Amino acid sequence: MKILFFTGKGGVGKSTNSALRAVHLASGGHRVLLNSIDPAHNLHDIFKMPLSEKPKEIAPGLQVIETDLNVWVKKYLKDMEQEFKNVYRYMEAFNLHKYFKILKYSPGIEEYAVLLAMENTLQRYQDKDYIIFDTPPTALTLKFLALPKVSLLWLKELASFREQILKKKDIVAKIHRKNAEVCADPVLERIEHLIQRYERISDLLTDEKKTSVHIVLNNDSLSLAESEDIFREVTNLGIKVTTVILNKFNGSGDSPKDLEKHFKGTELLTLPAGEGECTGLETLTSFPLPAPPV
Ligand SMILES: Nc1ncnc2c1ncn2[C@@H]1O[C@H](COP(=O)(O)OP(=O)(O)OP(=O)(O)O)[C@@H](O)[C@H]1O
Ligand SMILES: [Mg+2]
Repeated sequence: MKILFFTGKGGVGKSTNSALRAVHLASGGHRVLLNSIDPAHNLHDIFKMPLSEKPKEIAPGLQVIETDLNVWVKKYLKDMEQEFKNVYRYMEAFNLHKYFKILKYSPGIEEYAVLLAMENTLQRYQDKDYIIFDTPPTALTLKFLALPKVSLLWLKELASFREQILKKKDIVAKIHRKNAEVCADPVLERIEHLIQRYERISDLLTDEKKTSVHIVLNNDSLSLAESEDIFREVTNLGIKVTTVILNKFNGSGDSPKDLEKHFKGTELLTLPAGEGECTGLETLTSFPLPAPPV
């Protein structure tokens, strides 16, 4: 299974290009899932039909989803509350539920929700040849892509603190009772479980045979500047940017060759500005895929 992320500045054509790629891959006989994880979905406008969390078969081999991130925020908080209850039973008296109610407004929750939604998609649709994600605005995309790596940093630190605490607890227990048994620690077990989970996601995202990022830009200085930021950040995370797509290219402005030097190691593709709306299955099927500049 291959995972593709389409990203770029607002309005440059991320959704159009992810839809275009999905339609062409499916018409080539591949099993494709296209999933919008952008809270402001527009795949339904592109395919001109209502979409939801439930996959809709749009063409043979092509299913499309618009993920409801609110559902994943709620699921994330519910899972966390349950986990707290299981691991920290002795905290029950503090009425944890009250704190979880306000946690949904806390910064950082949205990127956990996007990551959870992505993980769920990858698990649920393992039968697909391609899973294509139409991503949220840049700031959120970069945060959720960085999340596994960042979480691993502090989880490993946390595990080592916990081990030190347990060693000391063990020494004290043995002073009191010579034959005191060392019990499994639920907190350390939970941290180790999370480490394994984030390592799995991180390995998948940084495996360039499986995961690729495709940056869409237009020929203007603002979208170029944002694309350069994305390129740098994503590359620093060890995730492969495979193509940069110069979309709505009409021959004016910087030449594709000039742009290429901003994105070393990637392939620069161009997609001409189409006449009229680039929506509807028929239009997308007849629209060319982005191609290398001649
Ligand atoms: N190559 C193209 N030729 C003509 N029109 C295009 C092309 N690519 C995109 N468009 C049009 O540009 C507009 C923005 O495209 P799209 O919705 O794909 O951008 P987006 O990056 O997903 O935007 P958002 O950030 O709002 O999600 C749409 O009206 C779309 O039909
Ligand atoms: Mg979009």
